[in-house]
Amino acid sequence: MAADPEKELFLKEFGQGYGYPNAPKNIDEIRATEFKRLNDVVYLDHGGATLYSELQMEHIFKDLNSTLYGNPHSQSSCSLMTNDIVGEARRQARLYLHVLSFFNASPGEYKCIFTSGATAALKLVGETFPWSSQSTYMYTMENHNSVLGIREYALGKGAAAVAVDIEDAADLDRRHGGKSDVKIIPHTVQRRGEDGCRTKEQTSDTYNLFAFPSECNFSGRRFNLDLVNVIKEDSYEMPGTSPRHSGHWVVLIDAAKGSATSPPDLSKYKADFVVVSFYKLFGYPTGIGALIARNESAKLLKKTYFSGGTVAASIADVDFYKRRDGIEERFEDGTLSFMSIASLHHGFRILNALTMSAISRHEMSLASYVRNALLNLTHVNGNRVCTLYGLNDPELSSNEMGPTVSFNLKRPDGSWFGHREVEKLASLSNIQLRTGCFCNPGACAKHLGLSHSDLLSNIEAGHVCWDDRDILHGKPTGAVRVSFGYMSTFEDARKFLKFIESSFVSLPAQATHLDLLRATPFHPAAEGVGVNTRYFLKSITVYPIKSCAGFSVESWPLSSTGLLHDREWLLKSLSGEILTQKKVPEMGFITTLVDLKLGLLIVESPRCKEKLQIELKSGQSIAGREVMEIYSQRYEVQGYCNEVDIWFSNAVGRSCTLVRSYASQNHMCAQSRSIRMCRDVDTRLNFVNEAQFLLISEESIADLNNRLRSKKHNGPNNWPPEVNPVRFRPNLVVSGGKPYAEDGWRSVRIGERNFTSMGGCNRCQMINTSFTAGTVQRSNEPLATLASYRRLKGKIFFGILLKLCDSIEQDAWLRVGQEVVANTD
Ligand SMILES: Cc1ncc(COP(=O)(O)O)c(C=O)c1O
Repeated sequence: MAADPEKELFLKEFGQGYGYPNAPKNIDEIRATEFKRLNDVVYLDHGGATLYSELQMEHIFKDLNSTLYGNPHSQSSCSLMTNDIVGEARRQARLYLHVLSFFNASPGEYKCIFTSGATAALKLVGETFPWSSQSTYMYTMENHNSVLGIREYALGKGAAAVAVDIEDAADLDRRHGGKSDVKIIPHTVQRRGEDGCRTKEQTSDTYNLFAFPSECNFSGRRFNLDLVNVIKEDSYEMPGTSPRHSGHWVVLIDAAKGSATSPPDLSKYKADFVVVSFYKLFGYPTGIGALIARNESAKLLKKTYFSGGTVAASIADVDFYKRRDGIEERFEDGTLSFMSIASLHHGFRILNALTMSAISRHEMSLASYVRNALLNLTHVNGNRVCTLYGLNDPELSSNEMGPTVSFNLKRPDGSWFGHREVEKLASLSNIQLRTGCFCNPGACAKHLGLSHSDLLSNIEAGHVCWDDRDILHGKPTGAVRVSFGYMSTFEDARKFLKFIESSFVSLPAQATHLDLLRATPFHPAAEGVGVNTRYFLKSITVYPIKSCAGFSVESWPLSSTGLLHDREWLLKSLSGEILTQKKVPEMGFITTLVDLKLGLLIVESPRCKEKLQIELKSGQSIAGREVMEIYSQRYEVQGYCNEVDIWFSNAVGRSCTLVRSYASQNHMCAQSRSIRMCRDVDTRLNFVNEAQFLLISEESIADLNNRLRSKKHNGPNNWPPEVNPVRFRPNLVVSGGKPYAEDGWRSVRIGERNFTSMGGCNRCQMINTSFTAGTVQRSNEPLATLASYRRLKGKIFFGILLKLCDSIEQDAWLRVGQEVVANTD
């Protein structure tokens, strides 16, 4: 095999633990035989969910197909066998193949209560914990929302809740200092109700809960598990609470993330509760997790509900029931997910064969390599590209950081790249990573340096989890996270680093089209572009129904909203959601035609036998009017009769209704919190996203196709395909001049009509969908190619948006062939 100097360097510097050299299969064999489906996808969201192996699934199918599993609550032989399997899955039948042994927990001391996941296990502790108004719920700032949510039970029972920072806990091992080295720094105490912040005396039956993650899912920081022993130590005074007196501290470890490489050793760190989700360990099955509970601590939990599975006896019409005796039997309501439980040992078998220590070393070598490389990236002006969260010192990172790297990127001028931009571009390069706060708001605020007032003003500005607002008030609202799994490879890490370098690091003398755009956005991008260049209108396309196919015409009337009837209709789901091709690609197969002479909108669909004809004049088919708000605009709309809605429901395969923007109503653009601020705030718009008209140039399309064609030499057969203008859903296509000259147009005259340019059109994944031969095909082109040279401040531009300047009298038409005079002043 040819030498790979980069890999050799990696192996020398970071690769001591890489690749499972002592396992039955090394990493390359594992990837080649058990993860064939990855192809050239780089999957780096193992913190979200790791991947199952194809061999694991084969074993599971074989097992399920050759065994009769009955409901474990019955007494038949197949039920008894299910019972045995479930029991075995909990306990320590064979080393590492089962849950308790995975955590080195003695079955005499701990029980494995199956739940639907880590969150369900956390909720179970929260809702059954013996809270009193003397109790405190203390948790580290770095915690998943599913841990923070326990606060609601505590506060609801009058208990106090305190978030804390753990300082230097990571130094404990090195200093052997034990308890005195742990510094717990409390934030303000939260309480509800009249008592406010009054600290209450604890009594011998006061129970407090302390929760922390074994590994932070935001930064990868591993918490020192000595914390368990320190907190449970009677003489340790917990800061921010009343003196301990006779109260008790119960410790919960959220091991959902950490267990994938380093499950807490419960023989050493005797936590009361540990929660885990199994898909984070070996990908499949989902919907199953566990609460590992110390026997004594489980007895503290006060359960209200009884159910099939947890009740020994009950009388239907008398207030009497008796719970089952076993700890698991008291908490596992209903029928367990026994098929999933029966599948667990196939996952544990993989971890066992590789060994957890080898998995940890393997993943850490990749994380250290990536961290190091990111830290060393600089722009041409010497400024650092990457800000890493967690430990910045790679020396420290190898043991105290898990296989997660979380970061943000900066431009040469120090401004931030938005994390959504990174995610969008990564996805175009077939790299799957995660961005945002990862459901860990405390870690997010802490690492990004967001104060309470920052957080509140972000919320005030409408920012919520999942949205696209990645930079607010000049600061990031989240981060980019890559996380490794046991099957990740050096090649994955390298491809990711190359992507970061090529997309975000500015190099010397990169006089690309992108730079020209940067320097003078939407000004002439090439020489010879000016009033003397001759352009012609090449085509006119009208899209009467938003997201459905349009029709091209030789000439078409203008109206005060753009091309007459353009985007005048839309489809809405029964819950009020606007349907678009993004979610409902079938809309692309609905063809439309407006016949002005007959006064009809005519629609056809391959799914409907008959074409549908709708009268343009308000007629028999119009139902009631209502007001709708979309894209920051208020619309007065009208619906149609049932027959019309049924036709469209059949055409798109889901229930929907057709609505029409009532053209005579004045639209207004409200001050909005929505991300999709209406750009053209002064103009009357139909159901367009941004502006009345979208114009593209034939020359720009040709240039794009040249670039796509040049990629073909490297790619597989006929890939990437060339695109025709329809992909961009333009209203107007012009020919003439140089590619991208339209970027510099300030205004344009077509025939006798004057238009103003509203700037470039920001492109999304929609242009990667093609509708050929009755099938929807999605790929990462042409957006990936456009991203390589048409990206500016997180947006990928192609085409320009226009607004009509003239007031429209009767009979104002555009015609194909008309001269287009561009003005760049
Ligand atoms: C640290 C941590 N805790 C808890 C959870 C919640 O796990 P689940 O959604 O599987 O219940 C997650 C999930 O990402 C996590 O990373």
